[in-house]
Amino acid sequence: MRRVRSWTRSPQFYLQKAREAVFGVDTILFQKKRETYSIGSFEWLALTETLYGGLQLGGVTSKTDRGGDRMSPYYHGYGRCYAEFLKPFISANRTERLTLVEVGILNGSGLAIWCDLFPNARVIGFDVDPSNFQANRKSLEQAGAFQKNVPEVHSFDQLDSRKANDVSRDVLGENRVDIAIDDGCHSLESIEITFEAIRPFFAPRFVYFVEDNFDTYDYLAPRHREYRWTTRGEITVATNLRS
Ligand SMILES: C[S@@+](CC[C@H](N)C(=O)[O-])C[C@H]1O[C@@H](n2cnc3c(N)ncnc32)[C@H](O)[C@@H]1O
Repeated sequence: MRRVRSWTRSPQFYLQKAREAVFGVDTILFQKKRETYSIGSFEWLALTETLYGGLQLGGVTSKTDRGGDRMSPYYHGYGRCYAEFLKPFISANRTERLTLVEVGILNGSGLAIWCDLFPNARVIGFDVDPSNFQANRKSLEQAGAFQKNVPEVHSFDQLDSRKANDVSRDVLGENRVDIAIDDGCHSLESIEITFEAIRPFFAPRFVYFVEDNFDTYDYLAPRHREYRWTTRGEITVATNLRS
């Protein structure tokens, strides 16, 4: 039932997925250099994720959490959604120092993408276990990551609302959050705790992505009608920008 609801809310996303299932993913995408594409486009995001260890081609059957699977059309296929909602911030980044928070960083492929995309931003990674990122940091750097911008990383538990609020307050201080991504443990409880911990810091113009849960939209949107909500399959987006 939740999947049917999801299909009706994001028909274009599922049409694209169906097209790719029938005709295959456009493999030409992976044969070109990312410089061929405009920064922040869906293709650029997918190729940048691949560059930093993301999954490129189909065929991985393991259910183990490997990260690096958000942009590629072979996996979650959120690239088009990110490209659409990040567009206004890419031009703003030239003149403003934005703040971006990613919750759930694993090996850091996301942080590497965000640092290339927003070289002037304050890029913050939150995770209950930042050691995976620290262990992988060298190989990201060898692939060219963090030459334009360097992220900061903090311990953050999405299942402990008091601590999550404290860390947000201590780390963010007077900073306002322009862009936030929740790619952590994906339970509704963790999603709500994280949203409530970061929400007081929203900038006047913000976008907030929650990955990998079909129910986020139904759960959070009715509680926060002050924002504009969109869902595309398993990803939900809140913003105060008009479309
Ligand atoms: C799907 S992975 C993140 C992948 C990453 N965003 C990327 O771009 O590849 C999920 C991450 O959530 C973290 N996590 C799991 N439970 C958590 C919790 N309670 N609080 C914060 N982070 C958590 C894990 O340590 C893991 O690094």
